[in-house]
Amino acid sequence: MATVVVIGTQWGDEGKGKIVDLLTEYADLIVRFQGGNNAGHTLVVDGEKFIFHLIPSGILYEDKRCAIGNGVVLDPAVLMEELKELEDKGRKITPERLMISENTHLIMPYHKALDHAREAAKSEGKKIGTTGRGIGPCYEDKIVRNGIKVTDLLDSALFREKLENNVAEKNFLLTKMLNAEPVDAGRIYDEYMGYAEVLAPFAGNVSVLIDETRQKGGDVLFEGAQGTQLDIDHGTYPFVTSSNTVAGGACCGAGIGPSQIDCVIGICKAYTTRVGSGPFPTELFDDTGDLIQRKGAEFGATTGRRRRCGWLDGVVLKDAVRLNGLNGLAITKLDVMSDIDPLGICESYQVEGENFTSMPTNIRKVEKAKPVYRQVKGWAGDITGARSMDDLPREARDYVHSIEAQAGTPAYVVSVGPDREQTILLKNPFEG
Ligand code: GDP
Ligand code: IMO
Ligand code: MG
Repeated sequence: MATVVVIGTQWGDEGKGKIVDLLTEYADLIVRFQGGNNAGHTLVVDGEKFIFHLIPSGILYEDKRCAIGNGVVLDPAVLMEELKELEDKGRKITPERLMISENTHLIMPYHKALDHAREAAKSEGKKIGTTGRGIGPCYEDKIVRNGIKVTDLLDSALFREKLENNVAEKNFLLTKMLNAEPVDAGRIYDEYMGYAEVLAPFAGNVSVLIDETRQKGGDVLFEGAQGTQLDIDHGTYPFVTSSNTVAGGACCGAGIGPSQIDCVIGICKAYTTRVGSGPFPTELFDDTGDLIQRKGAEFGATTGRRRRCGWLDGVVLKDAVRLNGLNGLAITKLDVMSDIDPLGICESYQVEGENFTSMPTNIRKVEKAKPVYRQVKGWAGDITGARSMDDLPREARDYVHSIEAQAGTPAYVVSVGPDREQTILLKNPFEG
């Protein structure tokens, strides 16, 4: 029996969806614990592509249970859409397959309105480039104790009271401060009462479900969203998301203790991408950056935005090892680096004569960081058919070993294509 946490080591979109789908085979319960539908997790199974924003990426295995923990912020409209899309594909999801924590906070229409209006009000260079899904304002309400939880939605009188109080305040902000349209409490009430009916049978105590699963000897897999450098505390603040994306977030965001986590796997793309604004020291503005973007098909799975691309950042990787207590890596998109020679791995930053081997906390310093690279020899040819390390060219193996050495952490998985099958599994995290 094991409990495994999978998180992103970079700025998101490392391939968490693919790896969670892959590891689901060995798990009984798959749990999301933070973020919301700002996430876009892509899985490809036998050539068929699925993108999940809210529902855990384990949902495609019909004999496995999934859960959305209290740390997630849930937009019920998006949940309805995802459930419908799955049903249309012949995969109807019943409450036996998916539990939603009663303590999960709901994204409300005014959260989305505030997210958009705040971004619009910011000047160029100050915009965070949020996904516009209302994530920040929803977490804000949670922390300030104005949030509306799933359990509140299921009590219509309590829901109405909380809604009316919130709408009064948000409409003041929207109209008087942000030059935006007000929202209508009555319309929101009616809309959300419709969601309440669908949501009610899915609502439950996820912490208890995890505990029961473990008591019965079951394996639990936690699916992180975003990435370590987008963490609200440890990322490149303020260009971050509004939740704790690091592995520790799994404890608070699902209701288990740190001593119950057996293994943490960090997903590390073989290069780096970032979508949205904020400093990105190893970003490439040249033809190689464009080439990686094209070969990696680097467009956001949620917003469709072009992702910024650059070399692998070993400073970011080392931060991730420390902040998440990584036991192992899953190195993804190695195939994208074929036919690029040489490859760069950033080992440290120079900032005005000072050397950094961890991310500077001062955002101005991060903006000025000059990466110091080690060059690594590239390889030629298609590697998407590789199923063991021996199938890879020597230089590709060396590149993997260079990443392991930079992290001081072994690779458990090497991914050479988007499909579930296009994977080299070196060590199974559920097997200790
Ligand atoms: P996530 O947010 O971390 O789940 O990642 P995304 O789904 O947003 O982005 C990762 C993209 O890379 C998706 O389109 C995946 O299908 C794709 N992908 C995952 N692993 C690999 C890989 O090893 N090689 C290639 N070429 N694509 C991959
Ligand atoms: P997955 O789970 C990449 C980024 C946004 C923006 C910042 C804040 O697919 O890896 P937010 O809407 O969260 O307030 O936006 O965070 N961001 C992501 N970037 N992958 C994601 O999720 C992201 N979720 C948020 O682009 O810069
Ligand atoms: Mg994504």
